[in-house]
This record gives sequence, structure tokens and C-alpha cells, in this order.
Amino acid sequence: MTIGFIGTGRIAEAMVEGLCAGEGPKEPILVSPRGAVVSRGLAARFAAVEVAADNQAVADACDPVFLCLPPDGVESALIGISFRPDQRVISTIGTMGLEEVGRWVNPKARLFRAGPQPTAARRSGPIAYHPADPEVENLLARFGTPVPVAGDAEFSALWCIVGLIATFYGQMEEVSRWAADEGVDAARAETFTASLVAAIAGDGVEGEAGRFAALADRAATLGGLNAQGLRAFRADGGMEALRDALESMHARLSGR
Ligand SMILES: NC(=O)c1ccc[n+]([C@@H]2O[C@H](COP(=O)([O-])OP(=O)(O)OC[C@H]3O[C@@H](n4cnc5c(N)ncnc54)[C@H](OP(=O)(O)O)[C@@H]3O)[C@@H](O)[C@H]2O)c1
Repeated sequence: MTIGFIGTGRIAEAMVEGLCAGEGPKEPILVSPRGAVVSRGLAARFAAVEVAADNQAVADACDPVFLCLPPDGVESALIGISFRPDQRVISTIGTMGLEEVGRWVNPKARLFRAGPQPTAARRSGPIAYHPADPEVENLLARFGTPVPVAGDAEFSALWCIVGLIATFYGQMEEVSRWAADEGVDAARAETFTASLVAAIAGDGVEGEAGRFAALADRAATLGGLNAQGLRAFRADGGMEALRDALESMHARLSGR
């Protein structure tokens, strides 16, 4: 099996890094020539990676083929490209539903949608995908945690949470900077914040629905600092601000 990439930018680079990480023999990977810096860099770093002559060469030689194109590059990249009837084509284009991408893919190909994270390079992070398929799931599991979803609607809602990554980092930056303003060494404040966030996020990775409310309850002991912090954050519209950000992204994804 040769794994193909059409569109070799930031997310393709992270996925290839994840696929090539670790010991042992690697499956061959063929990447499209654009963007040249990333595709040539991957081929120079990893013996398993080769740069194809063009996009059709990727479609001819590979199964599956990942589409890692910007939305406005999909038409020019795929027009006139022939896929095979049984070939798996996996779109990572975050703002395009399967039907829309399917307009530019030979309709006979088996088309999937997946949402990898930049953390694919470290083989971590949830990857929403659909439709469910055991082989695609095994492949995605090599650079993250596959999460099968019911369809584009469910995918889009989860994709909006991914759209909050910069906001989450922004919050970590804000609280670390506040601590630094209070005299804490800046690097120590950032390491402390990251370590705390990693630990508390880890507590919520497994469990039943409602786990976050239970964890918040447990942390917010009566009269304690956590209860005070949550109350102040809510009173100042912190939760509404998060919901508003989610709604604005969702409106864009659903064309509203
Ligand atoms: N970055 C993320 O964290 C992330 C996560 C999940 C999904 N995605 C999705 O992945 C897609 C790509 O995002 P990205 O961040 O990787 O963007 P990017 O770094 O800009 O990479 C896009 C690549 O597509 C190439 N390209 C454009 N037109 C092409 C064509 N006609 N034929 C072949 N290649 C072409 C570009 O080449 P040139 O440089 O030569 O123009 C560039 O290398 C987006 O649709 C995004 O929604 C991104």
C-alpha cells in the first residue's frame, strides 16, 4: 500500500511525520510536488517518502489518497484527475462537506472525510471521520485517535471545538502572563499552566456523559477558590463568549 497526499502543506507534513515516527519498516508515501518546500523536505528527512511528478501520479500509485488542499485549491488540483472505483480518497478539507468535495472527485472513488490535528506529528489528538470503515480507522489510528461520527453535521459541530485550539492557547497565555505580571518567572508560569491543563484534561478523557460537570463540582468546593473563580467567570459572560465563538464558526461551516 502506498499512501498518497495531494496538497503537501502543514497538515500533510504533520500526518507524514506521524506515519514515519517510531522504529520499523514504513509503508511508502507519495506526496504531490506542491508546496515544494514541505514535499522536498519530507523526502529529504524520511526514506519512505517520495515526491510525485504531479497530482495524477499520486492518484495512480496510491490507496488511500489524502486530500490536504486549501478549499480554494480543490477545483484546480482535482479537475481532470481520475481515481479508481475502489480507491479510498480521504478529504481533510475542514470547511467542505463530503458532497461538496465529491463534486471534484471521480464519483466512483470511496470518499471519506477526516479531521486530523497538527498533533498528528506526535501521533495524538482526536480525528473525527466518516463514514465508518475499519481500514480507514486503522490508518488514522497511526497518527491519532479516530472518532467515527454520524455524518457532516456531527463532524462540523466537533470541528468547531477544534476551531477553539487558538482560543485555548490564548487563555493559557493570558493566565501565564497574569502570573508573570504578579512576579512569577514567565517560563515557570507557562510550564506550570501547561502541566496543570494537561493533568486536568487527562482526568476527563474517559468517562460517562456529564463527566465535566461532575469534575467541575468536585473541584469547586463550597467557599473555595475554584467556586469563586467559576462564579466570576460566568458572571462576566465567559461561557457566553465561548458559545458565541462556537456559533460563529458553526454558522460559517453550515453556510448560514
Ligand atoms: N493545518 C491544520 O491544522 C489542519 C487541520 C485539519 C485539516 N486541515 C485542512 O487541510 C487543508 C490544508 O491545510 P494546511 O494548513 O495544510 O494548508 P497549507 O499549509 O496552506 O497547505 C496546503 C497545500 O496545498 C497545496 N496546493 C494548493 N493548490 C494545489 C494544487 N492545485 N495541487 C496540489 N497542491 C496544491 C499548497 O501548495 P503551494 O504551497 O504550492 O500553494 C500547499 O502546500 C485545509 O483544507 C484545512 O482545512 C488543516
